[in-house]
Amino acid sequence: MRDYGIFKTKKLNFKTYEEREMIQRSRELLHELSSRRTVRDFECRHVPDEVIENALKTAVSAPSGANRQPWRFVVVRDPETKQKIREGAEAEEREFYEHRATAEWLAALAPLGTDENKPFLTEAPVLIVVFLERFGMDDQGNKVKNYYMPESVGLACGFLIAALHHAGLATLTHTPSPMGFLNEILDRPSREKPFLLLVVGYPKSDARVPDITRLPFTTTIIDWMQKS
Ligand SMILES: Cc1cc2nc3c(=O)[nH]c(=O)nc-3n(C[C@H](O)[C@H](O)[C@H](O)COP(=O)(O)O)c2cc1C
Repeated sequence: MRDYGIFKTKKLNFKTYEEREMIQRSRELLHELSSRRTVRDFECRHVPDEVIENALKTAVSAPSGANRQPWRFVVVRDPETKQKIREGAEAEEREFYEHRATAEWLAALAPLGTDENKPFLTEAPVLIVVFLERFGMDDQGNKVKNYYMPESVGLACGFLIAALHHAGLATLTHTPSPMGFLNEILDRPSREKPFLLLVVGYPKSDARVPDITRLPFTTTIIDWMQKS
């Protein structure tokens, strides 16, 4: 038996399915998740706390380097804080669109219809601000190293977006750059680096999205030819 050192072990709880059911389940998830789109126009409509809480519990079940769980999620619902976040983001984005962005970057963004105005930050009912913990702290106040932080936090965000979509909520992955203003507004320590700002809610009934395409399957899935 595998030796887990200081950890006690418990029996793995894992369900398998017969092939037909596996295929059916994989199709259903494909269908569900491939209908997710980034939404930029939200209704000011309340979302149940439990849905947000359950999605966050799903997010923190993600794997992480050495189980360090280097993520922190701040849920913002109150209008005053959302307004401050909007002002901070719009100030950075104005700088970005007017000075910092290269012509190449602006060209890549053009089809998405984004600009320095971020009304969704006050219109959407919930903002989830995700921080990456650069290092932890033990009870004596000593630094504790974290591992593979961007990979771990990225995985948790993927779980979170999928869980919210599954519950019938739309998201916008927003990354105003730089995002240091979020530490100040939300009173988070400097060892926590803002990772992304997830806008959550219901799409406006007339919301539209760009008709973008995905790369061909054969471009991104390289070893498909070796399928059994
Ligand atoms: C890391 C990351 C950062 C993003 N930042 C922004 C952003 O700041 N503003 C925005 O409108 N969309 C942002 N997006 C959304 C992308 O533009 C969007 O995911 C992409 O165009 C594909 O569209 P889809 O999500 O509808 O499939 C971001 C997405 C990711 C993954």
